[in-house]
Amino acid sequence: MRILFATGNADKINEAAQILKELGHSVEQLMSEAERIEFDEPKNLGLEGVALSKIEQARAMIEGTESADCAILVEDSGIFLDAYDEWPGANSSDVEQELGLDGILDLLTEEQDRGAEYRAVAVLALGERVWKTSGVCRGRISAEKLGDNGFGYDPIFIPDAGDGRTFGQMLAASKNLISHRRAAMQALAELLKTPSK
Ligand code: IMP
Repeated sequence: MRILFATGNADKINEAAQILKELGHSVEQLMSEAERIEFDEPKNLGLEGVALSKIEQARAMIEGTESADCAILVEDSGIFLDAYDEWPGANSSDVEQELGLDGILDLLTEEQDRGAEYRAVAVLALGERVWKTSGVCRGRISAEKLGDNGFGYDPIFIPDAGDGRTFGQMLAASKNLISHRRAAMQALAELLKTPSK
């Protein structure tokens, strides 16, 4: 299936395209007229609420255009710190900009629980039909920033399913085998195989 991913985040597109290609789907970026998608992200709705809001906004964007018959994908994701009652969650992007990764590391003292997880919610709409899936990647926050690969919190996130390196130290292909995005996209590909009633 040809899928248009409504996001302005090039890293997310690259990862989703690589994952979904293996599963038989092609992913392209859905361009807004300004060639850059900016969503109005409602606060306090959680990942799922934000993802569902994004899909409505994306549908409104393509109404009446040649993309109106295409499958549209949106995704909302974030990191959840065990020591901070799952904060920053859906606000991960804002918090990353405000504090930086050094600021996050400063918040976690040696005694604190360094457990964390990435979560992603993916929503795909085709006409009136909507599919929703989610994925989780458990791990912990490293003592220091390590590696330049990936994006966002990757230099300070050590996945449990890895070999002790941060996502920032891993190649995209390795991250994409075990990431929260992988789990959400794979679940989506499974749902798309099931014929609709
Ligand atoms: P969104 O665009 O509102 O979904 O924001 C997602 C934010 O969560 C990103 O800007 C990052 O701060 C963080 N995030 C989500 N997934 C990842 C990932 O795979 N690696 C690193 N940071 C991520």
